[in-house]
Amino acid sequence: MTDSRIPTVRLGDGGPEVGVQGLGCMGMSFAYGPSDAQESRATLERALELGVTLYDTADAYGQGENERFLSPFFKAHRDDVVIATKFALAIPPDDPTRRIIRNDPPYIRQAVEASLERLDVDVIDLYYMHRRDVNVPIEETVGVMAELVREGKVKHLGLSEVTGAELRAAQAVHPIAAVQSEWSLFSRDIEAGVVPTARELGVALVPYSPLGRGFLTGSFTSAEKDLTADDFRRQMPRFTGDNATANAALLEPIRKVAASHGATLGQIALAWAQQQSTVHNLPVIPIPGTRKPTRVEENTTATRIVLGEEDMALLDPIAERVSGNRYADMTFTSAGRE
Ligand SMILES: NC(=O)c1ccc[n+]([C@@H]2O[C@H](COP(=O)([O-])OP(=O)(O)OC[C@H]3O[C@@H](n4cnc5c(N)ncnc54)[C@H](OP(=O)(O)O)[C@@H]3O)[C@@H](O)[C@H]2O)c1
Repeated sequence: MTDSRIPTVRLGDGGPEVGVQGLGCMGMSFAYGPSDAQESRATLERALELGVTLYDTADAYGQGENERFLSPFFKAHRDDVVIATKFALAIPPDDPTRRIIRNDPPYIRQAVEASLERLDVDVIDLYYMHRRDVNVPIEETVGVMAELVREGKVKHLGLSEVTGAELRAAQAVHPIAAVQSEWSLFSRDIEAGVVPTARELGVALVPYSPLGRGFLTGSFTSAEKDLTADDFRRQMPRFTGDNATANAALLEPIRKVAASHGATLGQIALAWAQQQSTVHNLPVIPIPGTRKPTRVEENTTATRIVLGEEDMALLDPIAERVSGNRYADMTFTSAGRE
């Protein structure tokens, strides 16, 4: 356990100063089985005490429920938190495997008003396009997002799961503070195009699912056996069947590195994600998701771990050996379009 606050970093050129690790709030209302609201609230407060300032949500998380849940916390600490939310993705409650993606201007205008109302704030600090609708030119989408900045509804812009080329086209319209994409010991596809483009353009990288949706902590080894029926991870190819068995064996080098640092597996996964900042020379702010105060303590402590060359040599080869894609449908990801 620690009471030390984590260091801060600038979220891209011109972006706000934030704690070097953020908090993913999705699981508090959505995707990962039942939550305890009181415990989630305690998690938010503990994170803030430890210097976590970037809080990540989206309108899609529980059909607005996650934004509503976070609103009292944000209002109580408005000057100390950076609120990040997203538009573009709708998940129909009657069919959680389906995705509706909208990037058109009328939809964005409607989405931002709905998020502002649910969050009950005057301005969103970081507004992301959650998924890319290839039917709308990205310049048009970012053009409307830029209008929202000029109108004072939004402070900074972000994009999630965009390709390097899409990021470049967007940045030509308005400065982008951050790209949020999956990046972890298990998921490194963004290093080919997105990361070098972000570095060149002065854009920060916000790795989502840096704990491999919990798998990298060793807390579950099979979605079918270990997780509840409504858990979203049961739909993810790498956590089910033979893939899960093969992938669980890949945790061995992480165990070895963890033992040598007196750390947990999750801390090593987070330290690796954080260290990509040095490897690729750009700001990296992982946003591990948790609903437990003790886990926020564990996760933020990882910001103090420095991995050596021998550690990286054990950890770096893992990703290419992972069985199964990170989503059943990869067309919605940057890798699916690159
Ligand atoms: N842009 C996008 O498309 C996108 C996609 C997915 C996620 N996200 C964002 O990224 C955030 C983080 O991603 P994620 O939640 O999917 O995955 P993650 O951070 O890789 O893992 C979260 C899972 O790990 C567990 N966990 C956290 N800390 C732990 C620890 N120290 N020991 C053991 N287990 C631990 C959590 O359980 P408990 O909650 O029970 O602690 C949860 O089940 C989300 O909350 C969301 O805000 C964005």
